Amino acid sequence: MIDDLEELQKRAEADIGAAKVEAELAAVRVKYLGRKGLLTQYLRNLGQLSIEEKQIRGKRANEIKNNLASKFEEAQAILTALKKETSFREEAIDVTLPGRRSGCGRIHPVTQILEEICTIFAGIGFSIVEGPEIENDYYNFEALNIPKDHPARDMQDTFYIDENIVLRTHTSPVQIRIMEKQQPPVKIISPGRVYRPDSDVSHTPMFHQVEGLLVDRGVTFGDLKGILTSFLKQIFGEDTVLRFRPSYFPFTEPSAEVDIRCVMCQGRGCRVCGQSGWLEILGSGMVDPAVFKNVGYDPEEFSGFAFGLGVERIAMLKYGISDIRLFFENEKRFLQQF
Ligand code: DAH
Repeated sequence: MIDDLEELQKRAEADIGAAKVEAELAAVRVKYLGRKGLLTQYLRNLGQLSIEEKQIRGKRANEIKNNLASKFEEAQAILTALKKETSFREEAIDVTLPGRRSGCGRIHPVTQILEEICTIFAGIGFSIVEGPEIENDYYNFEALNIPKDHPARDMQDTFYIDENIVLRTHTSPVQIRIMEKQQPPVKIISPGRVYRPDSDVSHTPMFHQVEGLLVDRGVTFGDLKGILTSFLKQIFGEDTVLRFRPSYFPFTEPSAEVDIRCVMCQGRGCRVCGQSGWLEILGSGMVDPAVFKNVGYDPEEFSGFAFGLGVERIAMLKYGISDIRLFFENEKRFLQQF
């Protein structure tokens, strides 16, 4: 039996030495020192022996047990240290590698044009005001003299929140809000987002407009022409050729659309201008007396002009962009060009 005991010790030591990770070592511990382990069983069987034998073998078995216990401790310490070292090595960060730069943002092309427009008008004394994007039917349509059966009021052309509340379809309602609050002279522009249920290469459901309004005593169509001509030459260049074309808007009388000679073909006719040689740039006109009445201004005393333009359209023509949807896809390679 004593030989078995020595053999058992040898094997246990060999097993301990072979354990490469903590889990393996734990299994070895169970194999020898666990409740049903080999050495435990040996100690349990000692009861069957004579007193003298029990003393000798018991003493030796306990020595071996203590010896193995300390071998386990040592092995455990080594494996724990090894594990720490491996994980340090695996998680190590090479601090000498060059860092990753975070990209530098820039101003969106639509915002750039918007800022340019605001700067030009601020330079000739216009104040910049904003209005709500969720608007009452009254401000968006009624007060602007847009009749109940006007096609713009159709469900297909306007986002309705309920019967009386819409996402504004243009920035013109800001005219009404300003005139309700303030007596002439009024000299404002109002930039902002507007909404229409459209989507194709030249329409997105949200886009930007700038509204302009100038009201005072003795304002004429000549003032409208002068200011819009100066503005468009600053945006598109001194050589820009313009034309004022009679048009119709419910809130202006007379009304005019302003075209510039096509920036792509210089008027020869191309796909962008539909072979006409001209590009529609904005709507404008003399404020209709009916609108003045709605805000309590006396149309005999005051006159004024208004205009509205689409910001994306101007950006597209200025930069030669053929699909309006590019502005809102946030594709970096597109945005980086501006
Ligand atoms: N609100 C018009 C639109 O969205 C644009 C417009 C035309 C505004 C003529 C005006 C104006 O102030 O006088 O199409």
